[in-house]
Amino acid sequence: NRLKSCINIDDLGRLAAKKVPFPVNNYVEGGADDEVTLKQNCHSFNRYQIVPKALQDVSRISTATRVMGCEIALPFYISATGFSGMMCPQDAELAGVRAAAKFDTLYTASTFSNRSLEEIAQASAGDKLFQVYVLNDKTLAQQLNQRAKQAGFKAMVLTVDTIVGGNRERDARSGLSIPPRLTVKSAMQYMMRPRWLIHYLLSDGARLGNFPHLPKVSMTDSQAFVIAMGKLFKKDLTWADAEAMIQNWGGPFAIKGIMSVEDALRAQQAGASAVILSNHGGRQLDGCPAPIDLVAEVRAAVGDQMEIIVDGGIRRGTDIFKALALGANACSLGRAYVRGLSAGGQEGVEKALSILKAEFERCMILAGCSSIDQINASHIRRL
Ligand code: FNR
Repeated sequence: NRLKSCINIDDLGRLAAKKVPFPVNNYVEGGADDEVTLKQNCHSFNRYQIVPKALQDVSRISTATRVMGCEIALPFYISATGFSGMMCPQDAELAGVRAAAKFDTLYTASTFSNRSLEEIAQASAGDKLFQVYVLNDKTLAQQLNQRAKQAGFKAMVLTVDTIVGGNRERDARSGLSIPPRLTVKSAMQYMMRPRWLIHYLLSDGARLGNFPHLPKVSMTDSQAFVIAMGKLFKKDLTWADAEAMIQNWGGPFAIKGIMSVEDALRAQQAGASAVILSNHGGRQLDGCPAPIDLVAEVRAAVGDQMEIIVDGGIRRGTDIFKALALGANACSLGRAYVRGLSAGGQEGVEKALSILKAEFERCMILAGCSSIDQINASHIRRL
């Protein structure tokens, strides 16, 4: 079993590249423009050093914490990622939902899910978040809100960094289309990945281009995809809309895609219970800062009541530790999770979570921390 031989998240990434056709893998791994922000998200973690505390009793440690109103076993969870049917045609979102529940952590369902909100909600007993993109169609947006509430999603995540699709040049070059099309060029790719192909053919092919939450859109090539996204999303969304959504939801609410102290404070004024510091994994605006570099200043500005979640470039347990030491409550996982999904469906996601859990626990022990609330600024040093 090749999954067993993966010992870190990058190994999972290499296996994923063998398991799914290259346009799919490029879609996952790629970023916007020159991918400067994509790379920086990872590299920025190296500017921080973990300061261990010696001779602490770490015979028993707990990684349990509370995020978005939910008690969870780990300070990290699965972020919203769309199109899971491309990476895992057999189970799509359900693979991640079930894996997250096994590890007693959260799963975030994307607006761009290939399975319905209700199906995702019922796939596990674990707590789940619903990530919403605000659509031009107001009734549709309200329906989504209602359905998420009824299905039992615990919290809402409003993503605000995707007013238009980012310029992902890898997708244009690799001929990404949704659903994937069979061309002479891609035929070899599919033939070399018989498992993926079989499941793709067995699954309702249309499902891959079908988002039960959205109107039918044409995504026959990467350009069509960007245009379709542009038509779908509300471009005149303002803080007043966010405030109304927060009130309407009435429960834990995060704004995802916050990239400054100023906006974190506005989110707090608008009534959000959390901000997710994120640049969409470097997939939207190239040239913006790495979220990890914002954590300390945002924490200083918002005080200790508001939750701070950070994502972007998290590939190691030590990255998660650094984020918490700088003041974050939790981290969310994009590619670390998707790599597992591509590499081996639910089993692959479980592998990704188990790698990060083991790394994070080891890091806590070596740093001399036996619970999450012991991790603080005294454990971190900036180069
Ligand atoms: C994403 N991301 C994302 N975010 C969101 O709010 N809604 C979505 O539908 C998606 N879809 C999506 C698909 C894929 C394939 C990726 C890789 C990412 C962004 C995601 O939630 C998260 O912010 C970043 O992925 C975090 O960066 P890392 O962990 O991938 O470096």
